[in-house]
Amino acid sequence: MKKTFYLETFGCQMNVVDSEQIVDLLCGIGYSQVDSAEKADLVLLNTCSVREKAERKVYGHLGRFKPIKDQRPDLMIGVGGCVAQQEGERMLEKVPYLDLVFGTHNIHRLPELVQQAEEKRQRGSVTEFLDRETRLNLFPQRSVRDAVTRFVTVMQGCDNFCSYCIVPYVRGREISRSSAEIVTEIEGLVAQGVREVTLLGQNVNSYGLKEQEISFARLLHRVNAVEGLKRLRFATSHPKDMTAELIDCFGQLDKLCKHIHLPVQSGSERILQLMNRGYTSADYLKKVTRLKTVCPEIRLTTDIIVGFPQETEEDFQATLDVVAEVGYADAFTFLYSPRTGTAAAKMPDDQSMVLRQQRFERLLELQNSNSEKVWQADLGKTLAVLVEGESKQGAGQLFGRTTWNRIVNFPGEKNLLGQIVPVKIVKVFRNSNLGELTTDACGQERDAS
Ligand code: SAH
Ligand code: SF4
Ligand code: F3S
Repeated sequence: MKKTFYLETFGCQMNVVDSEQIVDLLCGIGYSQVDSAEKADLVLLNTCSVREKAERKVYGHLGRFKPIKDQRPDLMIGVGGCVAQQEGERMLEKVPYLDLVFGTHNIHRLPELVQQAEEKRQRGSVTEFLDRETRLNLFPQRSVRDAVTRFVTVMQGCDNFCSYCIVPYVRGREISRSSAEIVTEIEGLVAQGVREVTLLGQNVNSYGLKEQEISFARLLHRVNAVEGLKRLRFATSHPKDMTAELIDCFGQLDKLCKHIHLPVQSGSERILQLMNRGYTSADYLKKVTRLKTVCPEIRLTTDIIVGFPQETEEDFQATLDVVAEVGYADAFTFLYSPRTGTAAAKMPDDQSMVLRQQRFERLLELQNSNSEKVWQADLGKTLAVLVEGESKQGAGQLFGRTTWNRIVNFPGEKNLLGQIVPVKIVKVFRNSNLGELTTDACGQERDAS
């Protein structure tokens, strides 16, 4: 009988890409994927350690698998991703029923670990960081599986060491792929039916700087020229590396979507400095103004941390001011979580949890009302939607996204997959819009096919 695995993925898009690679590797050694741990011979968690809550969740989830393993001692359990990278061998000690641990640079060694666990019942952990050359040769290559949209990793790792952040410690230093290889991969994806790519990296704006490659802006120009590609996005951007050349791309490139995720983290100069972000809020706002000038339709989203050590009411008010001024379409807001080993974890901090929580609620209230305004503006409009697949809403329903990355569900036939179609927005919900196909012109992107 065929062996089976169950995989759960947490964290950011990097982990999503890594999980796609995990699926391919396991299929390569005769496994097939199932949708529950109960049915699996191998259970894997691809984990995130960006905040303490995410890390705690891993142990919670592992606990869920224990009774299954008690009943079926042959079940193999493994942990990969950022918690695995951080904890390494220690995880095997902490969790006696865990069989394998693989770090963020060692996904390619998973088949070896699994076979070891299968044949010799041997527990194993690999978490060493690889050198540049080896990593460059191991960039994730994954099968397409009928996708309309795809992530393409252009760089990995982070050299920024924002004082609160664990990512540089669990992902290693920045490396970028060659632009020629990236373009060739995208041409290959398009030939297989992909219509939109999101160029991915912890900090795409510093793409190629170490390698003396072309700038990220030039790379966007090159990708924009790939025939048959309809849309282009990128994530995540660091404001300090957002050059004028890159900003101008939003006014020049027809395939580049009119959305940018530009994490601000805080509006206070003092806190931004303590965070080691490398920009002031004035710099940030200048770049936002320029983005809106070259592309008046652009919408921004952001990340914000509330309750960083020593944040005063004045600092917090500065964050609210930036949020009000930019008018973000959405914001991912986080309560500061101290991470062992980071600079911020050692900073004196006497704010009460109650105060942090209150500020968090105030920010949320402001952002919710901003988001509501931005989204309601779409009601009744006809927007260009790239059709990505069948919707979970039911039979005969499709889903796609607007240029602003907002999901739209609408009734339609499957033959529209991969096309950009005009959809009239008839209802606006918290996380998506409901629409209907129309023949009205939408004055935005036009489908060339
Ligand atoms: N590379 C991306 C962010 C990766 S982490 C970037 O620089 O934009 C995603 C978000 O998690 C960050 O933007 C930050 O807002 C949040 N975050 C990271 N570390 C955190 C911590 N210790 N506590 C709370 N939020 C944190
Ligand atoms: Fe973390 Fe800062 Fe790097 Fe983003 S840029 S991953 S927040 S250290
Ligand atoms: Fe989490 Fe690792 Fe991404 S810590 S946010 S999964 S890089």
